[in-house]
Amino acid sequence: MKEINISTQLQVYDDCSELTEDVQSLMKAAVKARENAYAPYSKFNVGAALLLDNGEVVIGSNQENASYPSGLCAERTAVYYAGAKYPNSKIIKMAITASSQNQITDSPIPPCGACRQSISEYEIKQKQPIEIFFMGVKGKVVKSNSLANLLPLGFDRSFL
Ligand code: THU
Repeated sequence: MKEINISTQLQVYDDCSELTEDVQSLMKAAVKARENAYAPYSKFNVGAALLLDNGEVVIGSNQENASYPSGLCAERTAVYYAGAKYPNSKIIKMAITASSQNQITDSPIPPCGACRQSISEYEIKQKQPIEIFFMGVKGKVVKSNSLANLLPLGFDRSFL
């Protein structure tokens, strides 16, 4: 038996103002998307915005359902929409923001495991890393240079 150590690398910004202008404007699009979340059950609104290599910005927000598992997260809504509308475009960057209706969300909210798996599929398909930025409503912003940094030991097409 031998033990292995897996490490990852992320960048942490004190707040949005430290980001480059293009990322700030992508985050603004995510905030706008967040405002259209349909989250009557969890009261947790999430918005995501993708910048594609064709210059388009594609957004998504979480969409819940009375049959809880039928709802979908913001990130997957956005990447599936991008895949459906612009199947040949690459995703360059992704901005994510989340806001609880019950408390001030001032820490960065990372994408859930299912969303990481879904984003990973597109990163592998396009053979180019996707930069991911995530935050709450205010405060620190975390950047990952690639989805792979958020999903060690991922499952991918090479196993099939
Ligand atoms: N949610 C997202 O939209 N993205 C995530 O990565 C985590 C969770 C949504 C799903 C559900 O509508 C609400 O947040 C609470 O889990």
